[in-house]
Amino acid sequence: MSSNEKRLAGEAAIRYVEDGAIVGVGTGSTVAYFIEALAGIKHRIHGAVSSSKQSTAQLEQHGIPVLDLNATGPLSLYVDGADECDPHKRLIKGGGAALTREKIVAEASMQFVCIIDSSKRVDLLGRFPLPIEVIPMARSLVGREIVKRGGQPVWRDGVVTDNGNWVIDVHGWQITDPVTLEAELSQIPGVVTVGLFARRPADIVLIGDREM
Ligand code: A5P
Repeated sequence: MSSNEKRLAGEAAIRYVEDGAIVGVGTGSTVAYFIEALAGIKHRIHGAVSSSKQSTAQLEQHGIPVLDLNATGPLSLYVDGADECDPHKRLIKGGGAALTREKIVAEASMQFVCIIDSSKRVDLLGRFPLPIEVIPMARSLVGREIVKRGGQPVWRDGVVTDNGNWVIDVHGWQITDPVTLEAELSQIPGVVTVGLFARRPADIVLIGDREM
């Protein structure tokens, strides 16, 4: 059921792709369906900007040109999945450890279409542990700051991000004010990216092929 909804969402996002576009492409199993569908219309697009090595490999496998964000300028569209989505289209992302590049490409894009299955829809963010990418030497420091704020930090041992950093997953937070928490955590030295997409939420959320 969940994988069928992911496939439907990935395919439905194609309708937001305009001819000649450079498409921002996220990361994850739902996005993998989007890339498959994008391959079917690759002659209509100029190329893609990728948010991870994983998505780059899949795009290149299909012969879709992967472009450098520094050369493209702003993008018209970003398509990505999420780990949780609240009623305001605010998200938790980073389950696949690609949160930093995902946040960069989302920020550079005019429209963010988020593709999820219904299990990701929540009223309150935080049941899914909040990923935070950190500079390795700051892991303990950031962990202590999280404990001060009532969270339980768990180091995602063995995982190194595409940027050479580490990930802490924070358990036990019910996130009532994600905009403020995102801003506050982002200020801690050593934090690279907080997996809250609240200041810049999604514009459109597709749950399967239905718009939320
Ligand atoms: C990658 O770091 C994440 O932000 C993904 O977007 C998120 O984990 C969704 O992944 P799935 O589509 O595999 O559920």
